[in-house]
Amino acid sequence: MNDASSDKLGRPVRDLRISVTDRCNFRCPYCMPAELYGEAYKFLPRADILSYEEIERLARVFAQLGVTKIRITGGEPLMRAELPSLIGRLAAIEGIDDVALTTNGILLAEHAEALARAGLNRVTVSVDSLDSEVFKKMSGREHSPQQVLAGIDAAEAAGLRPVKINCVVQRGVNDHTIAGLARLFRTRGNTLRFIEYMDVGTLNEWNLTDVVPAKEILAAVSRNGDSNPEAELVAVEPAYRGEVARRYRYKDGSNGHRAAEIGIISSVTQPFCGDCTRARISTDGRLMTCLFASEGRDLRAPLRGGASDDELRKIVAGVWGKREDRYSEFRTTTKPASKRVEMFRIGG
Ligand code: GTP
Ligand code: 5AD
Ligand code: SF4
Ligand code: SF4
Repeated sequence: MNDASSDKLGRPVRDLRISVTDRCNFRCPYCMPAELYGEAYKFLPRADILSYEEIERLARVFAQLGVTKIRITGGEPLMRAELPSLIGRLAAIEGIDDVALTTNGILLAEHAEALARAGLNRVTVSVDSLDSEVFKKMSGREHSPQQVLAGIDAAEAAGLRPVKINCVVQRGVNDHTIAGLARLFRTRGNTLRFIEYMDVGTLNEWNLTDVVPAKEILAAVSRNGDSNPEAELVAVEPAYRGEVARRYRYKDGSNGHRAAEIGIISSVTQPFCGDCTRARISTDGRLMTCLFASEGRDLRAPLRGGASDDELRKIVAGVWGKREDRYSEFRTTTKPASKRVEMFRIGG
């Protein structure tokens, strides 16, 4: 059965992003500053976190409403035990044709094969810089980017392709390392996506002056991104309605056997709310209809209170039917709500 529903702006629900843990082995200052999330910080107790059975049930309900893509996020999703068993459950749901994972890559080498065997289709790995010092600063930990590159190698070897790379750009922090990142992933044949730094959550003391606009990022890539100074980028059509990244290819090929691409996720300077088909479920089972939502609809209570699938579907369809979110279109003109969900609870 397919109860395809649209929100108030005519946007269907297509992508479901599920956060499976609020824990993370990084402390990126723009997401989970170490001074606030130290050893003593109490993450969600186990009883508050949705079980795999509960997640599967919700995913089935969303599939009946039109969702075809599921992305597993965190925190760091590979911190949750036995993740492959969840992947297997989700991959088996009728109507779901893409199951992906967003990770910081530190534990990826260890888990890639089991995830692929369970039915995971692909992974997106965050790499903010290849410069060891910048990498440490942006991840708030002592790991090296080489560990993440080993994770990417393992994912590719396991068939989790295409591996996409995400890089958040912060002015004065890692913008001088954009070209180096572009060079490496061009040679490797990966899609590298630069994300404009966003005001997600309430903790990162975001300021518009910290944002490097899409135009400037592209200029940095095309000017220096290759040993060939003539290298330039050409725009590529979106792969699907609502794709968050604007895509570019290297005009003169990709130096290799696979086509590398550059993507720019410019939520700040070129918002893409008009086509936003994404729903998010937080670790504790709240449905968020926007990355910048202040609170969500609790789905855990009805789940645990004995609601039938039909009842759950009505709740979700009701929330989605009232949805009017388009935060990024108003970011620079409207004062944001002081209470906003933190990134590590909904995974971006
Ligand atoms: P594909 O399915 O491979 O296209 O991936 P995706 O772009 O849906 O997911 P991914 O997690 O790789 O998204 C990259 C980043 O873009 C996220 O981590 C967020 O930082 C940002 N992003 C994704 N969706 C949204 C959104 O709806 N709004 C805003 N403002 N940013 C988003
Ligand atoms: N702005 C932009 N991207 C962010 N991410 C986390 N916080 C922010 C922010 N404030 C990115 C992570 C990862 C993805 C899940 O979201 O670095 O690549
Ligand atoms: Fe960094 Fe992602 Fe962990 Fe946040 S959840 S601290 S962005 S690795
Ligand atoms: Fe979607 Fe909200 Fe992001 Fe706009 S700001 S694209 S509505 S999640």
